[in-house]
Amino acid sequence: MAKANSAEQYKAQESELLRAVQAQCDTWIAQLDSTHVSSMYATINQGKMLRSKLIIAIAAPHVESTLNASAPESALDSVPSQSSGLSLRESVIKLCAIIELIQCASLLHDDVIDSATSRRGNVSVNAAFGDKSAIMLGDILYSNAFAQLCGFSSQIARVVAESVSALSLGEIEDVAYSRAFQSDLAIYYRIVRNKTAALLASSAKAAALLVGRDANAYEAYGLNLGMAFQIIDDLLDITQDTHTLGKPALNDIQEGKSTLPYILLYARLDSNAKEEFLCCFESADSASIARIQAMLAESCVLAESKQIAKDFIHKALESIRHERNSKLESIANALIERNH
Ligand code: FPP
Ligand code: MG
Repeated sequence: MAKANSAEQYKAQESELLRAVQAQCDTWIAQLDSTHVSSMYATINQGKMLRSKLIIAIAAPHVESTLNASAPESALDSVPSQSSGLSLRESVIKLCAIIELIQCASLLHDDVIDSATSRRGNVSVNAAFGDKSAIMLGDILYSNAFAQLCGFSSQIARVVAESVSALSLGEIEDVAYSRAFQSDLAIYYRIVRNKTAALLASSAKAAALLVGRDANAYEAYGLNLGMAFQIIDDLLDITQDTHTLGKPALNDIQEGKSTLPYILLYARLDSNAKEEFLCCFESADSASIARIQAMLAESCVLAESKQIAKDFIHKALESIRHERNSKLESIANALIERNH
């Protein structure tokens, strides 16, 4: 019973902090005083805020034990942080808002690159306002986030800045290897590490630095969690419909992206079937996609891909086992079971 109560208290505190993060993003956008920016930004759905949940779980795990009837309005308010002049609560909210803006900027650019029509259940900004506006809105969010990052220690600023370089490098390779099927698992893992895992790793590391926790352990947690996250994302692209996903289903094959299930399938085919697969992958019309889906269904590569994601989750949890953070364990396990 006591456990249920503390879980509920944590959830309430997390929800309150997530609302404050959204309000912080809204305030920064409003301060730009641009009706163009505000009207485009208003169409964006905040999504799951996974990176913020991670930062909160790392930088504020003691919330569970400190939140009680006699605690101040927020138990975080009085705790000193490593960023200049801010309480830990303010630092956590600002760090989360910075990461959410960077994540949002990267998706705005990614949707232009992928010609996506929807994102997080809404019409994507590129589809609603055009590619040029979507790119520039991404630039505005990204540069705003970096201006705010200057309020943090140079170590935290560097960790976050380097991960944005990594995600751009990952994306550029993702595009380069989309011209033809690429069957090299090492290349796939490198792209995933850069384009997705790097920002989760830097979010976790920055949160740990903020509160003087084991930064390397949390970085390893974020990195492995990010690998699992993208692998599950690549699986859901194949197994879920557009409505459930909130973004176009089967988009990867249409964009020529060689994701884990396709790479594992290709490795198991004989030479004739390999030839047929390559032909279907390249044309990516509805009959070809249906044929590849049949090949996937006949194999066990979807289950195998999920097992690989689970192995990354296991590694993530191993790296922070000594920290005994049950919230981070549930974030990791929920990620495997998600359907969008
Ligand atoms: C989604 O991949 C995309 C990313 C995880 C990263 C995209 C990064 C950039 C475009 C670089 C951004 C640079 C700056 C400076 C902000 P996906 O297409 O596989 O996933 P999806 O199905 O969600 O679209
Ligand atoms: Mg995309």
